[in-house]
Amino acid sequence: MSKAEIGLIGLGVMGANLALNIAEKGYPVAVYNRTTSRTGTFFENAGELRQNIVPCATLEEFAAQIKPPRPIILMVQAGKAVDEQIEGLRDFLSPGDIIIDAGNANFRDTIRRFDELENSGLTFIGMGVSGGEEGARHGPSIMVGGEKQAYERVESVLKSIAAKFEGEPCCAWLGHGGAGHFVKTIHNGIEYADMQMIAEIYGILRDGFGMAASDIGAIFSEWNKGRLNSYLVEITAAVLETEDPDSGAPIVDRILDRAGQKGTGRWSAIEAQMMGVPATAIESAVAARSLSAERGLRQMAAKAYGGTPAASGTTPDADFIRDLELALFAGKIAAYAQGFAVMDQASEEFQWNLPMPTIARIWRAGCIIRSQFLGTLAKSFEADPDAENLLLIGDFVEMMKEAHPSLRRIVAHAAVNGLPVPALSAALGYFDSFRQARGTANLIQAQRDYFGAHGFERIDQDGEHHGPWGSGL
Ligand code: 6PG
Repeated sequence: MSKAEIGLIGLGVMGANLALNIAEKGYPVAVYNRTTSRTGTFFENAGELRQNIVPCATLEEFAAQIKPPRPIILMVQAGKAVDEQIEGLRDFLSPGDIIIDAGNANFRDTIRRFDELENSGLTFIGMGVSGGEEGARHGPSIMVGGEKQAYERVESVLKSIAAKFEGEPCCAWLGHGGAGHFVKTIHNGIEYADMQMIAEIYGILRDGFGMAASDIGAIFSEWNKGRLNSYLVEITAAVLETEDPDSGAPIVDRILDRAGQKGTGRWSAIEAQMMGVPATAIESAVAARSLSAERGLRQMAAKAYGGTPAASGTTPDADFIRDLELALFAGKIAAYAQGFAVMDQASEEFQWNLPMPTIARIWRAGCIIRSQFLGTLAKSFEADPDAENLLLIGDFVEMMKEAHPSLRRIVAHAAVNGLPVPALSAALGYFDSFRQARGTANLIQAQRDYFGAHGFERIDQDGEHHGPWGSGL
């Protein structure tokens, strides 16, 4: 007799936690992992939740244990492993079964998988899951893409395992095909920008003033009580205040200054470029992460150029700290404006009709970028769902008016003192270009026509125009 309501393949940390979350919400779940011993260990450690877990040693047994039509969550490494898993599973499935890829897939792979499964009788869902290990275990934010009817069949289990914001589940169907994975990718792009801008502010205090990690942590802790209240600011404070048990020094001072990346940040930047939407704060954050990995080169350059100038040794005053807070806030507004603009364009190109207010709402809890800010964003989008850019929505106009002078002062301070702030300065550059009614592309038009006869438009005459160039000089 089939016992499970749902199946889950892949018992890595995320998969295992998601399975426990499902079991805890009262849904019997069949689990399978390619390395069988992992399934056994997982089951043994599941405590009371074992009663809702059906460990399976083979895919055949796994399929037999799930009530048809079978919803099956794949939580395996993004890429080839997903294709292999789908292939291996197909023989044991029946028409109507739903394969749900919950990994960080590239949405273009998701679209391909939809095509490959067309006419197979099987249904596919591409599902973005955010919240890390804790989120998977106690409530992630869930971004679903696929056929709406397929979502409706798994909606109750997904909503019950999702994070709740004031009782509202952070789970929604966002559109067909790759919509869910695309939104998750942009979530991660924004996550990169948020993290990088926080790190840049940390750098100003550490390298510009020589402040101790715990003192910087105290500042982030304070900010977490205000407009910057967010998971990432909260964990930044906690990280900066943590001591290394071996040396007693701040642990962050013992951590190598290079960070890895699995792809989602880069994909956000690539897709933004492909669609011609400026996402410079996100792009700079991705580039900064890549440069962080070039540690050897950076050390050579530090020797060649003398490195970052020595810290001033002075203490930043309250006005400066307030400027830092507002600069981070302004940078955040610009990065979110860019992320949402990319989603807006993708929504049009892929005909997803992405519900922007819903996206903001399901990011208010569970996911890595959850913050008070997203509450404001959700409300603003609800009031103005067709807004073309966040920087043009009333509340955000007011917030940006208050914050951009600080961003300007902080970027200027950093530039003068040789402190790198690539994402913050990209955010400022975007804002200044965005609000410039007459930009400088008149000159670009002229240059293009000069060297390539590409033509130009005039402000005082219709039609396409050309030189002559050089006359009268
Ligand atoms: C989340 C995270 C999660 C994961 C990233 C890390 O939303 O839960 O974003 O998806 O931590 O994959 O990505 P990088 O390795 O690229 O930093």
